[in-house]
Amino acid sequence: THPTQEEASSHVASQIIARINTFRPTQNRKFILCLPTGGTPFLVYRELARRCEEGEVSFEHVITINLDEYVGLGSEHPQSYCHFMEENFFSKGKLQSPNIIFTRPFPSPSPYHTILTPSPVDIPPNQSHLLPGHPIPPNTTPEHSCASYESLITSLGGIHLLFMGIGENGHIGFNEPGSSFGGRTRVIKLDEGTRGVNARFFDDPSEIPTHALTMGIGTIREAREMIVLALGKKKAEAVRRAVEDGVNHLCPASALQLHENVRFVTDNEASQNL
Ligand code: GLP
Repeated sequence: THPTQEEASSHVASQIIARINTFRPTQNRKFILCLPTGGTPFLVYRELARRCEEGEVSFEHVITINLDEYVGLGSEHPQSYCHFMEENFFSKGKLQSPNIIFTRPFPSPSPYHTILTPSPVDIPPNQSHLLPGHPIPPNTTPEHSCASYESLITSLGGIHLLFMGIGENGHIGFNEPGSSFGGRTRVIKLDEGTRGVNARFFDDPSEIPTHALTMGIGTIREAREMIVLALGKKKAEAVRRAVEDGVNHLCPASALQLHENVRFVTDNEASQNL
């Protein structure tokens, strides 16, 4: 635990950078980094972009793959997670420019979003993948997108480091309470509670999507290493239930107790119930 949000976020950025910098890439072997959205990772992305700009880390040998996305929101929608990643991370760095956002081609020819041009944070073309809010190609289904995403993860050889937040109800990705611990990437109906928590990002409550695409808990658990960041007192009870209660389906994050290489990073507020 760390006194402030800034310090906790900086610690996570340092951990991610350390893993990338100790990884030995080859032409066929890159570092597979799973990334989240939401309010929580905001400062981590800022820090990663800053430290990339300063030359402390390079994403040249990193492939990013995102955890989840809303069904029905295209990459151009300001609340889509694709837009979030562009705005808060991919477009930051050396070439930072407000015009860079969405001058890049979408959608990609793959059944998921693949960013086709280099990112200013020096991620090369074709090395950032996201679940698509609208199926690609359009005549396919969200289920098809999910199956393709699973195949992508397998073809990449699995995830080296998975970084994510935690929902107030203990969800991880969009795996709501009750989700199977063996679940794969799939379409999920959002809890009314989760829709309420995320309502702050939408002008009108009717715009909040009812469904999302998410890596399953089974998919998440196959990552070799995980970092869960929790900030603020609203997360304190979810953190306590995840690490101190028994493993149970009502708190999806408690599934991480079954993993051997997970780190919860918090600020003091988020750890106050421990
Ligand atoms: C969202 C996302 C999760 C995220 C969590 C916490 O709904 N699907 O991936 O970790 O809920 O969000 P926040 O960081 O905004 O609190």
